[in-house]
Amino acid sequence: MLTNKKIVLAVSGGIAAYKAAALTSKLVQAGAEVRVIMTESALQFVGSTTFQALSRQPVYTDTFKEQDPRYIQHIDIADWADMFLIAPATANSIGKLANGIADDMLSTTLLATEAPVYIAPAMNVHMYSHPAVVENMQKLDKWGFRFIEPGEGYLACGYVGKGRLEDPETIVALLDKEAAQSQVLKGKKVLITAGPTREKIDPVRFFTNPSTGKMGYALARQARALGAEVTLVSGPVSLAAPSDVEKVEVETAEDMYKAVTERYAESNIVIKSAAVADYRPKQVFDQKMKKSPGDYFVEMERTKDILQHLGDHKTGQYLVGFAAETNDVEEYGREKLRKKNLDAIVINNVSEEGSGFGHDTNQSIYLTKTGRRLELPMMSKDEMARKVLLEIASAVAGDFV
Ligand code: CTP
Repeated sequence: MLTNKKIVLAVSGGIAAYKAAALTSKLVQAGAEVRVIMTESALQFVGSTTFQALSRQPVYTDTFKEQDPRYIQHIDIADWADMFLIAPATANSIGKLANGIADDMLSTTLLATEAPVYIAPAMNVHMYSHPAVVENMQKLDKWGFRFIEPGEGYLACGYVGKGRLEDPETIVALLDKEAAQSQVLKGKKVLITAGPTREKIDPVRFFTNPSTGKMGYALARQARALGAEVTLVSGPVSLAAPSDVEKVEVETAEDMYKAVTERYAESNIVIKSAAVADYRPKQVFDQKMKKSPGDYFVEMERTKDILQHLGDHKTGQYLVGFAAETNDVEEYGREKLRKKNLDAIVINNVSEEGSGFGHDTNQSIYLTKTGRRLELPMMSKDEMARKVLLEIASAVAGDFV
Protein backbone atom coordinates (compact mmCIF):
# COMPACT_ATOMS: atom_id res chain seq x y z
CA MET A 1 0.00 0.00 0.00
CA LEU A 2 2.97 2.34 0.23
CA THR A 3 3.76 2.13 -3.48
CA ASN A 4 4.04 5.68 -4.84
CA LYS A 5 2.98 7.15 -1.50
CA LYS A 6 4.68 10.48 -0.93
CA ILE A 7 6.16 10.40 2.54
CA VAL A 8 7.96 13.23 4.30
CA LEU A 9 10.28 11.82 6.94
CA ALA A 10 11.21 14.44 9.51
CA VAL A 11 14.28 13.57 11.52
CA SER A 12 14.82 15.50 14.73
CA GLY A 13 17.89 15.48 16.89
CA GLY A 14 18.21 12.44 19.09
CA ILE A 15 20.59 9.51 19.06
CA ALA A 16 17.85 7.45 17.37
CA ALA A 17 18.36 9.65 14.26
CA TYR A 18 20.69 6.91 13.00
CA LYS A 19 17.72 4.50 12.90
CA ALA A 20 15.92 6.92 10.59
CA ALA A 21 18.43 5.91 7.91
CA ALA A 22 17.18 2.29 8.04
CA LEU A 23 13.65 3.64 8.09
CA THR A 24 14.27 5.66 4.91
CA SER A 25 15.69 2.62 3.21
CA LYS A 26 12.75 0.40 4.18
CA LEU A 27 10.19 2.99 3.08
CA VAL A 28 11.92 3.30 -0.30
CA GLN A 29 12.02 -0.50 -0.62
CA ALA A 30 8.27 -0.57 0.13
CA GLY A 31 7.77 1.64 -2.93
CA ALA A 32 7.32 5.01 -1.25
CA GLU A 33 8.77 8.30 -2.46
CA VAL A 34 10.59 9.71 0.53
CA ARG A 35 11.77 13.25 1.18
CA VAL A 36 13.76 13.87 4.32
CA ILE A 37 13.79 16.98 6.49
CA MET A 38 16.47 17.20 9.17
CA THR A 39 16.76 19.59 12.08
CA GLU A 40 20.10 21.17 12.95
CA SER A 41 20.41 18.86 15.94
CA ALA A 42 19.72 15.80 13.80
CA LEU A 43 22.69 16.84 11.66
CA GLN A 44 24.87 16.47 14.76
CA PHE A 45 24.07 12.74 14.76
CA VAL A 46 23.92 11.77 11.06
CA GLY A 47 25.00 13.53 7.88
CA SER A 48 22.44 14.61 5.32
CA THR A 49 24.33 12.75 2.57
CA THR A 50 23.25 9.43 4.11
CA PHE A 51 19.58 10.35 3.69
CA GLN A 52 20.13 11.88 0.28
CA ALA A 53 21.72 8.64 -0.95
CA LEU A 54 19.01 6.45 0.59
CA SER A 55 16.06 8.54 -0.59
CA ARG A 56 17.64 9.69 -3.89
CA GLN A 57 16.14 13.09 -3.12
CA PRO A 58 17.56 16.35 -1.81
CA VAL A 59 17.48 16.63 1.97
CA TYR A 60 15.91 19.75 3.49
CA THR A 61 17.63 21.33 6.45
CA ASP A 62 17.07 25.08 6.24
CA THR A 63 13.88 27.03 5.52
CA PHE A 64 15.87 29.78 3.83
CA LYS A 65 18.05 27.57 1.66
CA GLU A 66 15.57 27.60 -1.21
CA GLN A 67 16.66 25.04 -3.78
CA ASP A 68 14.35 26.23 -6.56
CA PRO A 69 13.23 29.89 -6.72
CA ARG A 70 9.93 28.89 -8.36
CA TYR A 71 8.73 27.29 -5.13
CA ILE A 72 8.53 28.16 -1.47
CA GLN A 73 10.03 24.96 -0.34
CA HIS A 74 8.38 24.32 3.05
CA ILE A 75 4.92 24.95 1.55
CA ASP A 76 5.73 22.87 -1.50
CA ILE A 77 6.81 19.88 0.59
CA ALA A 78 3.90 20.31 3.00
CA ASP A 79 1.48 20.13 0.03
CA TRP A 80 3.38 17.29 -1.65
CA ALA A 81 3.09 14.89 1.32
CA ASP A 82 0.52 12.10 1.49
CA MET A 83 1.89 11.17 4.89
CA PHE A 84 4.20 12.95 7.30
CA LEU A 85 6.31 10.96 9.74
CA ILE A 86 8.45 12.45 12.52
CA ALA A 87 10.97 9.80 13.53
CA PRO A 88 12.63 10.19 15.89
CA ALA A 89 10.43 12.86 17.45
CA THR A 90 12.29 14.54 20.31
CA ALA A 91 10.67 16.26 23.28
CA ASN A 92 11.66 19.55 21.63
CA SER A 93 10.03 18.83 18.26
CA ILE A 94 6.86 17.58 20.00
CA GLY A 95 6.83 20.69 22.20
CA LYS A 96 7.21 23.04 19.25
CA LEU A 97 4.39 21.41 17.32
CA ALA A 98 2.07 21.38 20.34
CA ASN A 99 2.68 25.10 20.82
CA GLY A 100 2.61 26.27 17.23
CA ILE A 101 6.27 27.23 17.11
CA ALA A 102 7.69 27.40 13.60
CA ASP A 103 11.36 28.36 13.64
CA ASP A 104 13.06 25.86 11.36
CA MET A 105 12.41 23.77 8.26
CA LEU A 106 10.78 20.89 10.16
CA SER A 107 8.46 22.98 12.31
CA THR A 108 7.36 25.34 9.52
CA THR A 109 6.60 22.46 7.16
CA LEU A 110 4.68 20.65 9.89
CA LEU A 111 2.40 23.60 10.53
CA ALA A 112 1.76 23.96 6.80
CA THR A 113 0.89 20.36 5.98
CA GLU A 114 -2.60 18.93 5.77
CA ALA A 115 -1.34 15.37 5.44
CA PRO A 116 -1.83 12.97 8.35
CA VAL A 117 1.11 13.29 10.73
CA TYR A 118 2.59 10.28 12.55
CA ILE A 119 4.85 10.93 15.49
CA ALA A 120 7.35 8.33 16.67
CA PRO A 121 8.85 9.69 19.91
CA ALA A 122 12.30 8.72 21.13
CA MET A 123 13.85 10.15 24.26
CA ASN A 124 15.05 9.42 27.76
CA VAL A 125 12.50 7.60 29.93
CA HIS A 126 12.17 10.51 32.38
CA MET A 127 11.78 13.04 29.60
CA TYR A 128 9.03 10.87 28.11
CA SER A 129 7.08 10.89 31.37
CA HIS A 130 7.69 14.58 32.17
CA PRO A 131 4.36 16.38 32.63
CA ALA A 132 5.30 18.98 30.00
CA VAL A 133 5.94 16.28 27.39
CA VAL A 134 2.87 14.28 28.46
CA GLU A 135 0.68 17.37 28.19
CA ASN A 136 2.08 18.25 24.76
CA MET A 137 1.46 14.72 23.51
CA GLN A 138 -2.09 14.74 24.87
CA LYS A 139 -2.73 18.03 23.10
CA LEU A 140 -1.46 16.66 19.80
CA ASP A 141 -3.42 13.43 20.26
CA LYS A 142 -6.56 15.52 20.77
CA TRP A 143 -5.83 17.40 17.54
CA GLY A 144 -5.72 14.12 15.64
CA PHE A 145 -1.95 13.55 15.39
CA ARG A 146 -1.12 9.85 15.51
CA PHE A 147 1.51 8.51 17.88
CA ILE A 148 3.69 5.50 17.28
CA GLU A 149 4.45 4.53 20.85
CA PRO A 150 8.10 4.07 21.70
CA GLY A 151 9.16 0.63 22.79
CA GLU A 152 10.65 -0.35 26.11
CA GLY A 153 14.25 -1.41 26.39
CA TYR A 154 17.81 -0.25 26.74
CA LEU A 155 18.11 3.46 26.01
CA ALA A 156 21.28 5.13 24.77
CA CYS A 157 21.34 7.30 27.90
CA GLY A 158 21.94 4.15 29.98
CA TYR A 159 18.42 3.80 31.37
CA VAL A 160 16.11 0.90 30.64
CA GLY A 161 12.50 1.95 30.04
CA LYS A 162 10.06 3.48 27.62
CA GLY A 163 11.53 5.88 25.10
CA ARG A 164 13.22 3.74 22.44
CA LEU A 165 12.20 4.56 18.88
CA GLU A 166 9.89 1.85 17.55
CA ASP A 167 11.66 -0.53 15.17
CA PRO A 168 11.79 0.70 11.55
CA GLU A 169 10.04 -2.54 10.36
CA THR A 170 7.16 -1.95 12.78
CA ILE A 171 6.84 1.71 11.73
CA VAL A 172 6.75 0.75 8.05
CA ALA A 173 4.14 -1.97 8.73
CA LEU A 174 2.02 0.53 10.62
CA LEU A 175 2.19 3.14 7.84
CA ASP A 176 1.32 0.41 5.36
CA LYS A 177 -1.79 -0.48 7.38
CA GLU A 178 -2.72 3.21 7.65
CA ALA A 179 -2.30 3.66 3.90
CA ALA A 180 -4.64 0.69 3.35
CA GLN A 181 -7.18 2.16 5.76
CA SER A 182 -7.05 5.50 3.97
CA GLN A 183 -8.99 3.85 1.15
CA VAL A 184 -11.68 1.96 3.09
CA LEU A 185 -14.35 4.61 2.61
CA LYS A 186 -13.23 5.68 -0.85
CA GLY A 187 -16.20 6.37 -3.11
CA LYS A 188 -18.61 6.62 -0.15
CA LYS A 189 -20.61 9.74 0.59
CA VAL A 190 -20.79 10.22 4.32
CA LEU A 191 -23.20 12.68 5.91
CA ILE A 192 -22.43 13.64 9.51
CA THR A 193 -24.34 15.90 11.87
CA ALA A 194 -22.65 17.63 14.78
CA GLY A 195 -23.15 20.09 17.59
CA PRO A 196 -26.26 21.39 19.30
CA THR A 197 -29.25 23.11 17.80
CA ARG A 198 -30.50 26.46 19.00
CA GLU A 199 -34.20 27.17 19.43
CA LYS A 200 -34.93 30.87 19.78
CA ILE A 201 -37.63 32.38 21.93
CA ASP A 202 -36.82 35.98 21.04
CA PRO A 203 -33.93 37.74 19.22
CA VAL A 204 -31.64 37.53 22.26
CA ARG A 205 -32.58 34.24 23.98
CA PHE A 206 -32.63 30.61 22.99
CA PHE A 207 -32.82 27.02 24.30
CA THR A 208 -29.84 24.79 23.60
CA ASN A 209 -27.63 22.08 25.17
CA PRO A 210 -23.93 21.71 26.07
CA SER A 211 -22.84 19.89 22.89
CA THR A 212 -19.59 21.34 21.49
CA GLY A 213 -19.53 19.32 18.27
CA LYS A 214 -16.18 17.69 19.07
CA MET A 215 -17.36 14.12 18.39
CA GLY A 216 -19.04 15.04 15.10
CA TYR A 217 -16.02 17.02 13.90
CA ALA A 218 -13.73 14.11 14.84
CA LEU A 219 -16.00 11.81 12.82
CA ALA A 220 -15.82 14.16 9.84
CA ARG A 221 -12.02 14.43 10.07
CA GLN A 222 -11.55 10.68 10.37
CA ALA A 223 -14.08 9.82 7.65
CA ARG A 224 -12.09 12.09 5.33
CA ALA A 225 -8.85 10.40 6.43
CA LEU A 226 -10.41 7.04 5.49
CA GLY A 227 -11.12 8.31 1.99
CA ALA A 228 -14.80 9.32 2.20
CA GLU A 229 -16.47 12.31 0.60
CA VAL A 230 -17.79 14.07 3.69
CA THR A 231 -20.58 16.55 4.32
CA LEU A 232 -20.81 17.94 7.83
CA VAL A 233 -24.09 19.50 8.87
CA SER A 234 -23.24 21.48 11.96
CA GLY A 235 -25.15 23.38 14.59
CA PRO A 236 -23.53 26.48 16.10
CA VAL A 237 -20.11 25.53 17.49
CA SER A 238 -16.74 27.23 17.68
CA LEU A 239 -14.78 24.59 15.76
CA ALA A 240 -13.20 25.02 12.34
CA ALA A 241 -14.30 22.56 9.68
CA PRO A 242 -11.78 19.80 8.97
CA SER A 243 -10.06 20.35 5.65
CA ASP A 244 -11.61 18.91 2.53
CA VAL A 245 -15.01 18.52 4.16
CA GLU A 246 -18.16 20.27 2.95
CA LYS A 247 -19.65 22.14 5.89
CA VAL A 248 -23.28 23.20 6.07
CA GLU A 249 -24.10 25.49 8.99
CA VAL A 250 -27.53 25.28 10.57
CA GLU A 251 -29.12 26.71 13.68
CA THR A 252 -32.42 25.05 14.53
CA ALA A 253 -33.64 21.45 14.51
CA GLU A 254 -35.86 22.39 11.59
CA ASP A 255 -32.84 23.76 9.62
CA MET A 256 -30.96 20.55 10.36
CA TYR A 257 -33.92 18.45 9.26
CA LYS A 258 -33.97 20.30 5.91
CA ALA A 259 -30.20 20.15 5.37
CA VAL A 260 -30.09 16.42 6.15
CA THR A 261 -33.18 15.28 4.28
CA GLU A 262 -32.11 17.21 1.16
CA ARG A 263 -28.86 15.22 1.12
CA TYR A 264 -30.17 11.87 2.32
CA ALA A 265 -30.88 10.20 -1.02
CA GLU A 266 -27.32 10.71 -2.29
CA SER A 267 -25.64 9.56 0.97
CA ASN A 268 -24.25 6.07 1.55
CA ILE A 269 -23.59 6.46 5.25
CA VAL A 270 -25.30 8.84 7.66
CA ILE A 271 -24.03 9.43 11.20
CA LYS A 272 -26.17 11.56 13.47
CA SER A 273 -23.99 12.70 16.33
CA ALA A 274 -25.76 16.06 16.75
CA ALA A 275 -27.58 16.80 19.98
CA VAL A 276 -30.86 17.93 18.45
CA ALA A 277 -33.38 19.83 20.57
CA ASP A 278 -36.51 17.75 21.14
CA TYR A 279 -38.62 20.82 21.90
CA ARG A 280 -38.75 24.44 20.79
CA PRO A 281 -40.78 27.40 22.06
CA LYS A 282 -44.23 27.37 20.54
CA GLN A 283 -44.23 31.11 20.16
CA VAL A 284 -41.16 33.02 18.95
CA PHE A 285 -41.16 36.76 19.56
CA ASP A 286 -39.79 39.15 16.92
CA GLN A 287 -38.77 41.65 19.56
CA LYS A 288 -36.98 41.19 22.85
CA MET A 289 -39.39 40.16 25.61
CA LYS A 290 -39.43 42.58 28.51
CA LYS A 291 -39.46 41.15 32.00
CA SER A 292 -42.43 41.56 34.27
CA PRO A 293 -42.98 40.60 37.92
CA GLY A 294 -43.68 36.94 38.69
CA ASP A 295 -42.91 33.67 36.93
CA TYR A 296 -42.96 33.13 33.21
CA PHE A 297 -43.98 29.91 31.52
CA VAL A 298 -42.81 28.89 28.08
CA GLU A 299 -44.96 26.54 26.11
CA MET A 300 -42.83 24.15 24.06
CA GLU A 301 -43.68 22.02 21.05
CA ARG A 302 -41.91 18.98 19.67
CA THR A 303 -39.34 19.31 16.91
CA LYS A 304 -39.09 16.66 14.22
CA ASP A 305 -37.09 13.58 15.16
CA ILE A 306 -34.69 13.68 12.22
CA LEU A 307 -33.16 10.29 12.88
CA GLN A 308 -36.56 8.64 13.16
CA HIS A 309 -37.51 10.17 9.82
CA LEU A 310 -34.28 8.86 8.23
CA GLY A 311 -34.87 5.39 9.68
CA ASP A 312 -38.41 5.36 8.31
CA HIS A 313 -37.28 6.42 4.82
CA LYS A 314 -34.14 4.36 4.31
CA THR A 315 -33.20 3.49 0.75
CA GLY A 316 -30.02 1.55 1.39
CA GLN A 317 -28.13 4.03 3.57
CA TYR A 318 -26.14 2.73 6.52
CA LEU A 319 -27.65 4.73 9.36
CA VAL A 320 -25.84 5.34 12.63
CA GLY A 321 -27.32 7.17 15.60
CA PHE A 322 -25.97 8.36 18.91
CA ALA A 323 -27.64 8.03 22.26
CA ALA A 324 -26.89 10.34 25.16
CA GLU A 325 -28.08 8.63 28.33
CA THR A 326 -27.59 9.03 32.05
CA ASN A 327 -29.16 5.82 33.33
CA ASP A 328 -30.11 2.34 32.02
CA VAL A 329 -27.72 3.34 29.27
CA GLU A 330 -27.53 0.15 27.22
CA GLU A 331 -31.26 -0.65 27.42
CA TYR A 332 -32.25 2.83 26.24
CA GLY A 333 -29.62 2.71 23.51
CA ARG A 334 -30.77 -0.69 22.29
CA GLU A 335 -34.35 0.57 22.25
CA LYS A 336 -33.34 3.59 20.08
CA LEU A 337 -31.47 1.30 17.69
CA ARG A 338 -34.63 -0.75 17.18
CA LYS A 339 -37.25 2.01 17.24
CA LYS A 340 -35.39 4.37 14.88
CA ASN A 341 -34.56 1.52 12.47
CA LEU A 342 -30.80 2.14 12.73
CA ASP A 343 -27.95 -0.05 11.53
CA ALA A 344 -25.80 0.89 14.49
CA ILE A 345 -25.74 3.12 17.54
CA VAL A 346 -23.03 4.71 19.68
CA ILE A 347 -24.27 4.85 23.25
CA ASN A 348 -22.73 7.41 25.60
CA ASN A 349 -23.20 7.64 29.30
CA VAL A 350 -23.02 11.43 29.51
CA SER A 351 -22.99 11.42 33.31
CA GLU A 352 -19.63 9.63 33.44
CA GLU A 353 -16.43 11.56 34.15
CA GLY A 354 -14.48 12.36 30.93
CA SER A 355 -17.30 11.27 28.65
CA GLY A 356 -19.85 13.08 26.51
CA PHE A 357 -20.51 16.81 26.11
CA GLY A 358 -17.48 19.10 25.83
CA HIS A 359 -14.82 16.53 26.73
CA ASP A 360 -11.95 15.59 24.46
CA THR A 361 -12.40 11.96 25.42
CA ASN A 362 -15.32 9.61 25.29
CA GLN A 363 -16.30 6.08 26.22
CA SER A 364 -19.15 4.26 24.58
CA ILE A 365 -20.88 1.05 23.74
CA TYR A 366 -21.27 0.39 20.02
CA LEU A 367 -24.16 -1.84 19.01
CA THR A 368 -25.29 -2.96 15.59
CA LYS A 369 -28.57 -4.29 14.28
CA THR A 370 -26.81 -7.55 13.46
CA GLY A 371 -25.79 -8.08 17.08
CA ARG A 372 -22.21 -6.81 17.21
CA ARG A 373 -21.39 -5.25 20.55
CA LEU A 374 -18.19 -3.38 21.20
CA GLU A 375 -17.13 -1.66 24.37
CA LEU A 376 -15.07 1.38 23.49
CA PRO A 377 -13.15 2.35 26.65
CA MET A 378 -12.04 5.90 27.44
CA MET A 379 -10.11 7.29 24.45
CA SER A 380 -9.78 10.51 22.45
CA LYS A 381 -12.79 11.40 20.33
CA ASP A 382 -10.66 11.12 17.18
CA GLU A 383 -9.60 7.61 18.10
CA MET A 384 -13.17 6.63 18.87
CA ALA A 385 -14.37 8.19 15.62
CA ARG A 386 -11.82 6.13 13.69
CA LYS A 387 -12.80 2.89 15.41
CA VAL A 388 -16.49 3.51 14.77
CA LEU A 389 -15.83 4.39 11.11
CA LEU A 390 -13.70 1.29 10.57
CA GLU A 391 -16.59 -0.80 11.98
CA ILE A 392 -19.01 0.95 9.63
CA ALA A 393 -16.66 0.48 6.67
CA SER A 394 -16.41 -3.27 7.37
CA ALA A 395 -20.17 -3.59 7.73
CA VAL A 396 -20.79 -1.67 4.51
CA ALA A 397 -18.20 -3.79 2.69
CA GLY A 398 -20.07 -6.88 3.91
CA ASP A 399 -17.25 -8.20 6.10
CA PHE A 400 -19.66 -9.15 8.89
CA VAL A 401 -22.35 -11.50 7.77
N1 CTP B 1 -32.15 12.99 17.12
C1 CTP B 1 -32.66 13.56 15.95
N2 CTP B 1 -33.68 14.46 16.01
C2 CTP B 1 -34.21 14.81 17.20
C3 CTP B 1 -33.70 14.26 18.40
C4 CTP B 1 -32.66 13.34 18.32
O1 CTP B 1 -32.17 13.24 14.87
N3 CTP B 1 -35.19 15.71 17.23
C5 CTP B 1 -31.08 12.00 17.00
C6 CTP B 1 -29.74 12.42 17.61
O2 CTP B 1 -28.94 13.07 16.63
C7 CTP B 1 -29.14 11.10 18.04
C8 CTP B 1 -30.35 10.24 18.37
O3 CTP B 1 -31.46 10.87 17.74
O4 CTP B 1 -28.46 10.45 16.98
C9 CTP B 1 -30.64 10.06 19.83
O5 CTP B 1 -30.69 11.29 20.47
P1 CTP B 1 -31.00 11.38 22.04
O6 CTP B 1 -31.05 12.81 22.44
O7 CTP B 1 -30.09 10.44 22.80
O8 CTP B 1 -32.42 10.70 22.16
P2 CTP B 1 -33.86 11.14 21.73
O9 CTP B 1 -34.22 10.41 20.50
O10 CTP B 1 -34.00 12.61 21.69
O11 CTP B 1 -34.70 10.47 22.93
P3 CTP B 1 -34.79 10.87 24.48
O12 CTP B 1 -34.57 12.35 24.56
O13 CTP B 1 -36.13 10.45 24.87
O14 CTP B 1 -33.71 10.07 25.16
